Amino acid sequence: MASNFSIQPVGRFAGPSQPVKRPKEFACFSYDENHEFHLGDRSMKWYYTPRLGADLSKGFNSFQKHDDSRDEHLDSLLRTIVAHERETGQKIDANVVTWRGMMTKILATPFEQNDGFEMNATLYQGCIFIEESHEHKMATRRQEAQRPPRRGGPPQEVMQFWGYKFETLSTLPATWDETSREYIESREDQVVNNKEQYCSVVRTGIGKAILYLGGEVDAIWDSKPQEPGAPINWVELKTSAEIRNPGDLDNFHRKLMKYWIQSFLLGVPKIVVGFRTRDGILVDINEIETHRIPDTVKARPNPRWDGNMCVNFAAAFLDWLMKSVNDEGVWRIRRRPHSPVIEVFRVEETGHGNILTEEFKNWRIKL
Ligand code: A3P
Ligand code: MG
Ligand code: MG
Repeated sequence: MASNFSIQPVGRFAGPSQPVKRPKEFACFSYDENHEFHLGDRSMKWYYTPRLGADLSKGFNSFQKHDDSRDEHLDSLLRTIVAHERETGQKIDANVVTWRGMMTKILATPFEQNDGFEMNATLYQGCIFIEESHEHKMATRRQEAQRPPRRGGPPQEVMQFWGYKFETLSTLPATWDETSREYIESREDQVVNNKEQYCSVVRTGIGKAILYLGGEVDAIWDSKPQEPGAPINWVELKTSAEIRNPGDLDNFHRKLMKYWIQSFLLGVPKIVVGFRTRDGILVDINEIETHRIPDTVKARPNPRWDGNMCVNFAAAFLDWLMKSVNDEGVWRIRRRPHSPVIEVFRVEETGHGNILTEEFKNWRIKL
């Protein structure tokens, strides 16, 4: 039994935005330099302006790269939710629990044709839990690896490294005055390690759906506020090729859609873009306020996307999903590249696959 949600015509999602709740962080967790899980903010980083002229390829050979061939499901997110529920003695009031990355794909759908997606979902105690299909993620990865690099350009792995290198160049492990001079001066020689991450877990809402999302944040501008739920001055770090002509600018405005979606879902107010040459030399830095992005893009002659339509699409899709995923088992949520629909169909009739951990289910049975 399959059902489809129509993406086309996207014009029906135009108009004022459905309500969006301001995301509030209610918990956080960290992966350390070995990718071991810890509750709390030990891997949080502080933003510190990098030096222009830095070579983003430097240190590629000593890159401590996270091996993501193991399927991590929702494990860390569920662990964090269990810890939070133990503390409060109450079940969270979510309609949907997932990684921020899954919601980014959904919001981008009306304006994205080339990238499909596959997710697994299960209904448990009235809430839908959504994970990425690991199989699909690995297949996409293999396809991307086969794409030849730009002629005369660096290999893809090096280009991917640039993003992580930029993070290392732009962050400190503590506030500026708590960080040693040696560290600050040797930032360009620090080993780049993407096993280490700080993840924020927020409560937010789109349309009628209450969402609990987990996602990585790259850095903080100053310090966390004392009051729980107060806005946090997070910083999202991005690298992009320097803009040399109108075509480059057009591409950049297209990329801004994903930057914007990814950041506003977690309540990240600022994006710092490091512009680089085609050879990976950092040449410019631009600070962008997340909330201004949709209007900036709309003010251009031929806008490629519309923020309200992304939100309205997601609100309508989530509303429909909450009616469609109405029984136990494992459901697949799939969008094939260029397809005018998102398909939802059941792939397992009973149970919850590996989406939910034993720890989570055991805890919820007792609660
Ligand atoms: P850039 O986005 O600067 O290229 P994020 O920006 O989400 O914090 O991710 C940090 C870096 O991880 C990216 O830096 C990029 O190098 C790499 N990365 C993230 N998503 C990726 C994807 N889908 N494919 C390849 N690399 C990715
Ligand atoms: Mg990141
Ligand atoms: Mg980033």
